[in-house]
Amino acid sequence: MHNVLVTGGAGFIGSNFIRYLQTAESDVDIVNLDVLTYAGSLENLKDLPNPDKYKFVQGDIGDDDLVENILREGNIDTIVHFAAETHVDRSILGPAKFVETNVMGTFVLLEAARNYWIDEGGQNISEVRFHHISTDEVFGSLEPDDPPFSEVTPYAPNSPYAASKAASDHLVRSYGHTYGLPFSITNCSNNYGPYQFPEKLIPLMISNALNGIPLPVYGDGKQIRDWLFVEDHCRAIREVINQGESGETYIVGGNTQPTNITIVTTLCEILDECLPNSSFVPHESLIKYVTDRPGHDRRYAMDITKIINDLSWTPKRSLSEGLMKTVEWYLDHQDWVAAIGKQGDYQDWLDKNYEARGETQ
Ligand code: NAD
Ligand code: TYD
Repeated sequence: MHNVLVTGGAGFIGSNFIRYLQTAESDVDIVNLDVLTYAGSLENLKDLPNPDKYKFVQGDIGDDDLVENILREGNIDTIVHFAAETHVDRSILGPAKFVETNVMGTFVLLEAARNYWIDEGGQNISEVRFHHISTDEVFGSLEPDDPPFSEVTPYAPNSPYAASKAASDHLVRSYGHTYGLPFSITNCSNNYGPYQFPEKLIPLMISNALNGIPLPVYGDGKQIRDWLFVEDHCRAIREVINQGESGETYIVGGNTQPTNITIVTTLCEILDECLPNSSFVPHESLIKYVTDRPGHDRRYAMDITKIINDLSWTPKRSLSEGLMKTVEWYLDHQDWVAAIGKQGDYQDWLDKNYEARGETQ
């Protein structure tokens, strides 16, 4: 990793990754290509450890000329591909954008990498890597007694988001198999931590609770997700790029699988502890069960044996520690939440997604 193109680096995980990479490696030059959708913000990239080795380009991964120019001009040897539409609920109400960005955008990036690295021989092929960030959602939903997802679990995506990510994973793999493009893929579980856009479960619940707004729990709240603190994910990505074999896929997860309602009640307890004088104590009284997400996956779980055995990576942050750190971060960054909440169509989105969801219990 010398000259790295990060796509989607103004989003949640991408911005955490850029900050982490600059802390871990002093010698890497980073170009961040991000179109700045509602989910991306330069507010996430203030105070980078090494601003001289970082450049931002506002643009679309689907713009082939732009992407090829960035690769050539930056002598890019490593692409770390985060850019995507990422919210399942948005994919249900508007799937077209997910196909455009996640499938076509990934295709354009792959074509640019193939042209520059393979056809033009722009870099030494044994030293390049296309690293694709993917999700556990490509595997679909587990029954209560099913074994956890592993690298050999068949794909069975259930939402338009998951299907678009699955399609992009297949494209990446096919470029490795057909053209010899050096690649790796990480399929990671739900991330949480600083700089997560407030529409996702954990930051939404924190923001609503702080403002005395109901906490909308879908269905019975007993859906199960695996949760990973974002910095642990960033460390896994770096390990896979630096030490992982080209052509390999790695499952990445936190090895912790609470129900959604456990997550929400834990956040409420942390807030009660941090803000004992709030008029919303006990914050749990704000919980409202609402109409479920259509096609809602019931259970995800991760078998992280391969990344532990091959790369000695393990999650460092426990869920209780990570949730405490996350709540503290959001309490300390209310200006960030206020600024980010004004971006794009966020307020309209809240109306669109939640107004039609009646209370169910
Ligand atoms: P995010 O929604 O916070 O950020 C996505 C970023 O991509 C934004 O900055 C946005 O502006 C940018 N972007 C969108 N379309 C673009 C385009 N056409 N061109 C350039 N930039 C574009 O997402 P995130 O949560 O940080 O997720 C990053 C990646 O990790 C995604 O690929 C997602 O599928 C994957 N992932 C996320 C999670 C999670 O829990 N958040 C878990 C596993 C995998
Ligand atoms: P989310 O953060 O959207 O991630 P994903 O759907 O990619 O796993 O949601 C996490 C879980 O929380 C998921 O089971 C849906 C549930 N959820 C709610 O119950 N209420 C909400 O308002 C949101 C946004 C999510």
